[in-house]
Amino acid sequence: MIHAVVGYGRLAQALVPALRAAGQQVVVGRRWPVDGELGQVQAARRADWVWLTVPDDQIAATAASLPWRPGQLALHCSGATPLSALSPGLARAGFHPLKLLAGDAGLAGVHVGIEADAVHGPALEALAQALGMVPLMLSSPMTAQARAAYHAAANLAASGVLAVLAEAQSLWRAAGLAPEQALPALTPLTRGALDTALTRGLAGAVSGPIARGDAGVLARHLEALAAAGLEADLLRALGLRQLALAEAAGRLDVAQVTALRALLAAR
Ligand SMILES: NC(=O)c1ccc[n+]([C@@H]2O[C@H](COP(=O)([O-])OP(=O)(O)OC[C@H]3O[C@@H](n4cnc5c(N)ncnc54)[C@H](OP(=O)(O)O)[C@@H]3O)[C@@H](O)[C@H]2O)c1
Repeated sequence: MIHAVVGYGRLAQALVPALRAAGQQVVVGRRWPVDGELGQVQAARRADWVWLTVPDDQIAATAASLPWRPGQLALHCSGATPLSALSPGLARAGFHPLKLLAGDAGLAGVHVGIEADAVHGPALEALAQALGMVPLMLSSPMTAQARAAYHAAANLAASGVLAVLAEAQSLWRAAGLAPEQALPALTPLTRGALDTALTRGLAGAVSGPIARGDAGVLARHLEALAAAGLEADLLRALGLRQLALAEAAGRLDVAQVTALRALLAAR
């Protein structure tokens, strides 16, 4: 079996070495090949499985530009894109690593959403295991709503956390602390919370003034944001979600919940 990986970006730079390390034959197809590299069409012609690792918005056009033949499998890695973006009449599958890849990380231990028919699903599941990944078999076809919710969850869990840290960084600066120390000091807190959540669950892990019912501390947080000229919308929204977790953990009485909710809702 030969794989063609069309588009050598961040995802492909993790996928290609992983496939090769697992003993798979791989050719890479580039838009502008140089020095013995293959073009997209040349690579696709040689392969049984053709991976379209191009930007999401380019999947349909790239698929339509390739010379498909019967028996090939067309794959993409976009959790946001339906299989219908791949050319009709082809065997089609989705293989979405649930990890932010920036060209410097491997795939071992990463969960991967797999969307495939009954013929190709088992083969992709076996490939994921050979790559040291954790296969997550998705329903196929996924409804548009399920796909959007699945992708939104993945985005919230990755880039959403980055947005929260950006907010924390702004508050760190407002406290007069050295900006270059913000991430080194704050990300261990994030890691610690995540490690605890994996063992105790989200409600079991939640900590801080809201989980403790410390309304006075929360009030001072809100005042600090106002004094720094920062919007409190994110702190309020996340505070309400923390309150729900603390309630689920049975940590707060009715009076504490009422006081905290009033503070978080007030404008
Ligand atoms: N990076 C991640 O964290 C991650 C995680 C999970 C899934 N994915 C999915 O993996 C796919 C690739 O994402 P990526 O992050 O690797 O993207 P990327 O780093 O932007 O790389 C995409 C590659 O596609 C080619 N390309 C760029 N513009 C093109 C165009 N207009 N037409 C055709 N080819 C073009 C280029 O390769 P050549 O120069 O070789 O032609 C480029 O390096 C996407 O579907 C994405 O949703 C990414």
